Amino acid sequence: MIPDELIEAVGNARHVTVLTGAGVSAESGVPTFREAQSGLWARYDPMELATPEAFAANPRLVWDWYRFRRELVLGVEPNPGHRALVELESLLPEFTLVTQNVDGLHARAGSRDVVEFHGNLFTDRCFAEDKVVAGQESTQLPFCPDCGAPLRPGVVWFGESIPEAARDRAFAAARDCDVFFSIGTSSLVYPAAGLVEVARDAEATLVEINPEPTEIAQTLHYALAGASGEVLPALVKRLKDHRS
Ligand code: OAD
Repeated sequence: MIPDELIEAVGNARHVTVLTGAGVSAESGVPTFREAQSGLWARYDPMELATPEAFAANPRLVWDWYRFRRELVLGVEPNPGHRALVELESLLPEFTLVTQNVDGLHARAGSRDVVEFHGNLFTDRCFAEDKVVAGQESTQLPFCPDCGAPLRPGVVWFGESIPEAARDRAFAAARDCDVFFSIGTSSLVYPAAGLVEVARDAEATLVEINPEPTEIAQTLHYALAGASGEVLPALVKRLKDHRS
């Protein structure tokens, strides 16, 4: 299922860049967004929950939704896919992990340096100063300890820009890598979905891991049709066997 040439390309790579999406956390029990039955956006309207306008109109509803997601994520564990990415990092000279996920599961699995493209569910941000502060536990509406403005969840909403540092690191890593993996993402949301195009222009080997090949799968060098919690541990094992 995993071609020898791909193992060789990863084994010889100077820099591997990985982009993950909600599918990587699916086997932990975190729902994805766009899957027809189980996806969060099939049950909830993102325009009422994940935009600055929604927050301005009904901060309590938005906070209830993010607190529900915090609790959900605190009740689950990283899965073999997250752990295989920790191991993959240790086997390669340079490795950049970019995630669209806000659940913090890569860090909990042991990944040390994660580029969080869409922010983190467990931080808050001041709505006025755009400053990140530690997530607060309270069930009340939280306010900035410094300026008193409302605090909002520290995640990127529809219509907002990606935090500059994360954006710059992710695009630099896509430009610089010789193998680029797109794992557990529908590749529909920009600018994250543009990273693979940057890696393509840099002539990287392009790989997708997804049980349902996406619209871009046919344009990539390899599309591994399977769950990340199965394919990634198998890939790491093959890489180790190849080295020994
Ligand atoms: P999506 O819900 O759009 O896509 C999840 C992908 O994961 C789908 O292509 C599934 O086929 C795949 N998948 C499901 N189970 C899997 C498994 N076990 N292993 C591997 N893949 C699996 O989620 P994202 O692409 O992450 O943004 O969505 C991108 C962004 O849209 C999110 O970061 C979020 C959302 O709106 C914001 O909130 C800003």
